[in-house]
Amino acid sequence: VPTEGESRAAFAHIRKQALAHQAAGRRIVVVQGLGFVGAAVAAVVAGARNSAGDPLNVVIGVDRPEADSYWKVAALNAGRAPIASPDPALAGLIAEGVACHSLFATTCEDAYEIANVIIVDVHLDAANRVGGAETDIDVGLASFRSAVQTVGRRMSPDALVLIETTVPVGACTEIAEPILREERRRRGITAPLQLAHAYERVMPGPRYVDSIRAYWRSYAGIDDSSAQAARAFLSTFIDTDVAPLWELPDTTSSELGKLLENSYRSLNIAFMYEWTLLAESLGANLFEIVDAIRVRKGTHDNMRYPGFGVGGYCLTKDSLLAQWGAEHLLGSDVKLPMTLAALDTNYHMPKHTLDLLRLAVGDDLGGVTVSLLGISYLADVGDTRNSPAELLCDELLAAGAALRAHDPHIAEWRERPHVPLVDDLDLALRNTDAIVMAVPHSEYRRLMPQDIHDAVGRPAVLVDAQNVITDAAASVLREAGWLLIGVGKGHWQSAGYHRTS
Ligand SMILES: NC(=O)c1ccc[n+]([C@@H]2O[C@H](COP(=O)([O-])OP(=O)(O)OC[C@H]3O[C@@H](n4cnc5c(N)ncnc54)[C@H](O)[C@@H]3O)[C@@H](O)[C@H]2O)c1
Repeated sequence: VPTEGESRAAFAHIRKQALAHQAAGRRIVVVQGLGFVGAAVAAVVAGARNSAGDPLNVVIGVDRPEADSYWKVAALNAGRAPIASPDPALAGLIAEGVACHSLFATTCEDAYEIANVIIVDVHLDAANRVGGAETDIDVGLASFRSAVQTVGRRMSPDALVLIETTVPVGACTEIAEPILREERRRRGITAPLQLAHAYERVMPGPRYVDSIRAYWRSYAGIDDSSAQAARAFLSTFIDTDVAPLWELPDTTSSELGKLLENSYRSLNIAFMYEWTLLAESLGANLFEIVDAIRVRKGTHDNMRYPGFGVGGYCLTKDSLLAQWGAEHLLGSDVKLPMTLAALDTNYHMPKHTLDLLRLAVGDDLGGVTVSLLGISYLADVGDTRNSPAELLCDELLAAGAALRAHDPHIAEWRERPHVPLVDDLDLALRNTDAIVMAVPHSEYRRLMPQDIHDAVGRPAVLVDAQNVITDAAASVLREAGWLLIGVGKGHWQSAGYHRTS
């Protein structure tokens, strides 16, 4: 981690190049926070070109001079993506941006002074509420407040502040705007404040870049001038022919939009869990039923499939931000019981996979070797935040199972360092008693039944929690003496696949 002096010295070099771009008519865009969202946003904004192929923006990513975040600054400046991504376009954009001097990163807060646009992409956590009352919601506002305060202390008077962080409803007008106004008042700035909210829909999977560049975006400003500035800026890097922008009337609506969007998804997943249990008990294949329903385009084509559980940074917390902000920032007494109950259902969902494992192996898991395939929260993504694998592992270890985990996208499981993480898939599977397929990574989907059998070296138990194994593959394994069971796969249970014949 560089000292403040070193950071300033390095920034002097960046400042010179950025100001030269500005003099040539380009915006200087500072992205505050280089995490899963900010790093990708920085790359996409830096990659925006006019019809002659010249950059429209020069981007300076800013993150904190701390051990757990500075490496992101260093990676970006070296032309590398700070996040492992299956989308080659991300690494390409970063390498190109750094090579043509339109993308930089720094820990130096002087960057805010020269920015035309400041994008806030910092985290804002809410503690998991599981089985508690609405009053148990714990929102960590400190880092968001402090990030916005830094912007207010350093920003140039007419810069646009664009908040992309997912915030509690009401946070723009009740937290960010008062902080910015106060800091600017202290500095004697009288120019009107330009503040807008445009929530991110980025998906860190195989379409990482296009989920920003070619994806619909809603936005709103605290006034017309802020909204217009936001629209003009968003249009520089979003392909608005493919994905037109949608202006909402105010920032509260924009905040609410993000929270509703993710709550809608989370509630749908919880709803399908109930039907998963029903389908299994009736011996039905819920995947096939859902496929048959999904042909109803426009009303049912997005019905969720059964699965292992819900994790990640967003779906596990965004409903909490709606309930908390409504009450604490905007004084609403409306409760969201169904929405919050979904978080509870989703949190406990992996226990069903454990129940299925017990159906095949027996109640006593003491000394049983279990190989867990997949610990990230999403297919082909290297992110373990709030992974549903955590609960399964905790329960398996408490039951005395001998656990091995594998994930092609994760080198270190920071949240569960005591769980052995095996790099090599064959070693993770060798001579195991049971396999749990928890994440449908492409590497697992490509496995043939013979590969699985050969890696283990003998028939074992397989629990498919994510529809990784086709019926054809299951029948091959069954012939070879395997016991199989799967989430949503009642037809395997009615065929007795989980019992020795
Ligand atoms: N991860 C996703 O898929 C996703 C998708 C859409 C929206 N979001 C939302 O976007 C926001 C960011 O999410 P993320 O996944 O990138 O989080 P993250 O934790 O990966 O990144 C946040 C970054 O902000 C940095 N930071 C914090 N305070 C700072 C400050 N004062 N100055 C400079 N840097 C600072 C942190 O060091 C960290 O690198 C959240 O509100 C999240 O809900 C996330």
